[in-house]
Amino acid sequence: MAFPTAFLDELTARNPIEEVVGQYVSLSRKGSNLFGLCPFHSEKTGSFSVQPEKGIYYCFGCHKGGGVIQFAMEIENLDFPDAVRWLAKRAGMEVPEDNTRREGYHRQERLRELCREAARFFHAQLSTDGAKAAREYLAKRQVSGAIVKRFGLGFSPNAWTGLIDAMKAKGYNEQELLTAGLAVRHPTKGTIYDRFRNRLMFPIIDVRGNVIGFGGRVLDDSTPKYLNSSETPIFNKRKNLFALNYAKKTKEEMLILTEGYMDAISLHQFGFDCAVASLGTALTEEHANLLSKYTQKVILTYDGDEAGQNATRRAAPILEKAGLSVRILKMQGAKDPDEFLKKYGPDAFRGLLNNSENRAQYLLGAMQRKYDLTQDDQKVAFLKEAASFLAGLPNAVERELYTIRAAEAAGISPTALKTEVEKNFRRRRAEQKKREEKKNLEVANSRQPDERALRYANLRSAVAEEGLLRLLLREPELFTQVQLTPEHFSVPLFGRVFAIWRTQFEQGRSVGIAALGESFAREEIAHLSGVIQKEQTLVSETALKDYVGVIREEYEKTQVSAEDRLRQAHERMREKHYGG
Ligand code: CTP
Ligand code: MN
Repeated sequence: MAFPTAFLDELTARNPIEEVVGQYVSLSRKGSNLFGLCPFHSEKTGSFSVQPEKGIYYCFGCHKGGGVIQFAMEIENLDFPDAVRWLAKRAGMEVPEDNTRREGYHRQERLRELCREAARFFHAQLSTDGAKAAREYLAKRQVSGAIVKRFGLGFSPNAWTGLIDAMKAKGYNEQELLTAGLAVRHPTKGTIYDRFRNRLMFPIIDVRGNVIGFGGRVLDDSTPKYLNSSETPIFNKRKNLFALNYAKKTKEEMLILTEGYMDAISLHQFGFDCAVASLGTALTEEHANLLSKYTQKVILTYDGDEAGQNATRRAAPILEKAGLSVRILKMQGAKDPDEFLKKYGPDAFRGLLNNSENRAQYLLGAMQRKYDLTQDDQKVAFLKEAASFLAGLPNAVERELYTIRAAEAAGISPTALKTEVEKNFRRRRAEQKKREEKKNLEVANSRQPDERALRYANLRSAVAEEGLLRLLLREPELFTQVQLTPEHFSVPLFGRVFAIWRTQFEQGRSVGIAALGESFAREEIAHLSGVIQKEQTLVSETALKDYVGVIREEYEKTQVSAEDRLRQAHERMREKHYGG
């Protein structure tokens, strides 16, 4: 299943990490290392390092790290095999695929090609006689011809096998049409029919430009208004955003997140090429992480209705957790960006963007509107709710500022409210601290094997193991002098790494992250990168002896105590049998 390590060696050699990273991050040299702004979390001073000699990257801020393959996985959102293929393509190398792997990849490639063909078919249909209503609909909604072309909009004919027939003629079979989510099997007849019929078609394109699915809108008021492709091996609604393939190239320093395809399309048509839409699902953590790869700031422009406002309240913290700064558009006179643009034009919309609110402003505003602040009892209720919310703001300046605003809104002096907020804040902080302590304790006691692998049960040995791995990475010839087995290592991860590197060395291949292939978890590789990025300054001969000595010593302690335990158990048994 795995790629041969000899191939991974060559792959990493032909894709120098500083070059690959350099395509995304502007790096400057400091000694033998390179530094830049981390592409995986937002920061103002560079804590992201690349060490070309070791073939690794490591961020001191977010602790992400790995070799060039892990970088490709992280930055391009790929799994291990796809990252390997991506790098191979970059270096003009052939990938040695084994049969199952080749078949899996081939099947997905076929699905992607099928979706592309389907998009071509739908687009071409738009110019046929049968698509008159669709063209009229587009005209009514003022969608320009240029935008229709840019987004590859199309029309699914009002027939049962329009797409199926066309795709069969191109060599695709029924199973493939079903798997791609383009056809549905009739439950009793057993035949298949087109999933999308008589709909305006929006191809959904991933960041790499592959058509992966479709949204289809009715041309009238029938339901469901939108129909989306079902989940397929290439289409995951939780991980993709509509129009991000274009928006990722924007010069704006923000991305605009909308609820609907039409909103995103309208925004692009009116010059806001930074708009994306979710695919008829609530915003997920995956969406937020994806967005954070392309921007530091997201403007939420969900509909003004209750559903849209609830979605806004849910989405904002998810985005903030991904390190994004969030602003919320305050829209009046229209229910969504599409309607607003057509009514008031792009300049007015730019004004809305400039006046967008942060989460605190937004939530306080919503709270204010809920109460009639001319009534004393409602005023009190408002202040109580506001105090509790304000106490949750982690930033002291924000807390103070919005406390003053809330007091002003209620027409009282800020002093009393401030006292209330600070009291709430201290209580919350104490509770949070308690929760964290409890959680830490739980983590320490949890029996998660992979988490445990990263925790040091024996610090003295672990430190020596770290040093030893650093030495061996720098001078693999030292393997000839190390008579240890993986069992000697107190940290299982280090034992596994040691075993693989030793084999690599014995087979005359290079020792490094690439050799570890795909059998290690992301967190393990990141942790290892953190370990090996450190300088190894000690003179190697003595350091080697010291490290090996400590590892042996600590290992023997565990053996002795194991023997002890065994002997004690024996003694207890005898006591039981012979009554002491
Ligand atoms: N949606 C969906 N299924 C539905 C309705 C909506 O998947 N039955 C998703 C679509 O992605 C749609 C988004 O939710 O783009 C927003 O829905 P809505 O606000 O109803 O649509 P609008 O964007 O206003 O659509 P239009 O302007 O075309 O009426
Ligand atoms: Mn709309």
